Amino acid sequence: MNNIQQKVLITGGAGFIGSHTADALSEKGYSIRLFDNLEPPVHNGEWPSYVKKKGYELMRGDVRMKADLEKALKGVSIVYHLAAYQDQMPDFGKFFHTNTVSAALLYEIILEKKLPVIKIVIAGSQFSYGDGIYTCVHDKKTFYPPLRSFVQLEKKEWDILCRHKKPAHFTPFKEDQAVNPTNSYGLSKIAAESLALQLGKTYDIPTVVLRYSIVQGARQSPRNLYSGALRIFVTQALQGSPLTVYEDGNQLRDFVNVHDVVDANLLALIDPKMDFEVWNVGGGRPWKIIDFAKLVLRLAESTSSLEIAGYRRTDTRHAVSDIKKLKKRGWNPYHTPEKSIKEYIEWFKKEGFNKVSKLTK
Ligand SMILES: NC(=O)c1ccc[n+]([C@@H]2O[C@H](COP(=O)([O-])OP(=O)(O)OC[C@H]3O[C@@H](n4cnc5c(N)ncnc54)[C@H](O)[C@@H]3O)[C@@H](O)[C@H]2O)c1
Repeated sequence: MNNIQQKVLITGGAGFIGSHTADALSEKGYSIRLFDNLEPPVHNGEWPSYVKKKGYELMRGDVRMKADLEKALKGVSIVYHLAAYQDQMPDFGKFFHTNTVSAALLYEIILEKKLPVIKIVIAGSQFSYGDGIYTCVHDKKTFYPPLRSFVQLEKKEWDILCRHKKPAHFTPFKEDQAVNPTNSYGLSKIAAESLALQLGKTYDIPTVVLRYSIVQGARQSPRNLYSGALRIFVTQALQGSPLTVYEDGNQLRDFVNVHDVVDANLLALIDPKMDFEVWNVGGGRPWKIIDFAKLVLRLAESTSSLEIAGYRRTDTRHAVSDIKKLKKRGWNPYHTPEKSIKEYIEWFKKEGFNKVSKLTK
């Protein structure tokens, strides 16, 4: 396979994961087309400097628009579908138009125009698992808990309780367990990956779904309000404000460095054994949010305090992915959260985001 002749389309290519994926693919000789609508507030209306002057074709367009996607797919043999609406807002329709309908349109156009696409990689999300599976410590029965109720959260009963009203045991998410998304983002992602796998199989278009855990590293837009603990903690630490840790800080998460995610993205392209399946891409180690906040404080050399208060309605108690399946394909997360935090702080300062005015521009 001659990479030079292969054009890769990356939807959402101006974004965090898309741009890093473009750099790695370009290094391997692929020709790159980035397609993005430069969605605010993630972007400020311009292509970010990290994608300019690299020889990439920059195409502005909207994945919700079939005509735009038709142009984007012209001459392309590989697609990374990374564009997404990620937020906590109640504009529910936008999640499905951006995240789900766009995936359907990709397959629709490929079939209609008989395009020679040989691989589609779909960005799934760990968020789709919701709270996942818990086991009651008394009767050993497993159950899929619903989202914790307002009443429970208001009482500050953070743990998931079994039917005996005792804290139950969390099991890291596996690809073959049932999904249980707690918000429109997760629901729209599951719908997208399900239709992509089904259409891929039906029409023999090799399709791989990668369910990323929380991804970290440079270029994660500080204006992206969905981008999680690292953005929030680093912003607070560098501005000298208290770090706001929700619940009791004992909730577990796994964090994966963007370079490890890029490795998984590239593996999905060349490993046919990954086709038509779902793969978790995570950090492989659970972190208590409070310990992660303390690590940010130390690495940012900040004197900010920790403020343990509040909660977010659709947050899950724990979210940790089991990554054994992808490890068996030879992939490993090599980079630590320490490295991600350092990379992010360095980039954040270089871009001037530690000055409040830059964040609002
Ligand atoms: N970053 C994470 O922690 C994480 C975790 C799980 C899954 N994901 C998934 O990975 C993918 C990439 O995420 P990211 O972190 O790079 O996010 P990002 O916000 O940095 O990038 C997404 C890009 O999509 C673009 N976009 C949004 N709506 C669009 C539209 N209608 N048309 C065209 N472009 C549009 C945005 O402008 C942005 O550049 C997404 O699908 C996301 O759901 C990310």
